[in-house]
Amino acid sequence: MRRPMVAGNWKMHGTRASVAELINGLGQLALPSGVDVAVFPPCLHINQVIDGLKGLPIQVGAQNAAVQAQQGALTGEIAPSQLVDAGCTLVLVGHSERRQIMGEQDGTLIRKFAAAQACGLIPVLCVGETLEQREAGKTLEVVGRQLGCIIEDLGVGVFAQAVIAYEPVWAIGTGLTASPQQAQDVHAAIRAQLAAENSEVAQGVRLLYGGSVKAANAVELFGMPDIDGGLIGGASLNADEFGAIIRAAGN
Ligand code: PGA
Repeated sequence: MRRPMVAGNWKMHGTRASVAELINGLGQLALPSGVDVAVFPPCLHINQVIDGLKGLPIQVGAQNAAVQAQQGALTGEIAPSQLVDAGCTLVLVGHSERRQIMGEQDGTLIRKFAAAQACGLIPVLCVGETLEQREAGKTLEVVGRQLGCIIEDLGVGVFAQAVIAYEPVWAIGTGLTASPQQAQDVHAAIRAQLAAENSEVAQGVRLLYGGSVKAANAVELFGMPDIDGGLIGGASLNADEFGAIIRAAGN
């Protein structure tokens, strides 16, 4: 059985004061024991969050990391080894905002994925199609290619120590959610693509859905057989709402 995971991507939100408030809210949640919980604060606040969540069963990850594992001359970047040193256990790789706004391409993402794993961080690989691609009937082709480039370069075995998040770009921050069946169809295709190479890896890897997940739609989404939890943006900035989503994954 795969253990569900609910992760909060705080994106570029927060001040020291608002982060302190959110930490306080997270500390008051009654967390179900069967769900892995993680948050991805802006890098600037990672130390504050790790200190503030000490003793709580909440992992902390980064939203991005450098293409090389170890510290060095790379202005403006943060090495996976530095994230490990700070206490992080996870890192997002290939979020659509980084693919689209920062222009990150497959080659860069393969290097980031490998550098993270070289330090023992668990990469959360984000994949997903745009509205235009969905309407053109290209969803599975696009997602298959985003996943396939990692498999081709690093081997399917890397997904024994990774998480995948399917996030349709048209559902991120828009209030539009993929229907549970639409999400399930893509999750099943992702698992089948992995299973074609290694069925054990395919059965073990956690596939999260992301894109306007709220407490109100989480139960239905998480009830689908290949959806193992969620990557939550906007709703993760509210501790009570995030807590309700976590509980939905525990049911
Ligand atoms: P959203 O973001 O929940 O605000 O749609 C999800 C994400 O980008 O990870």
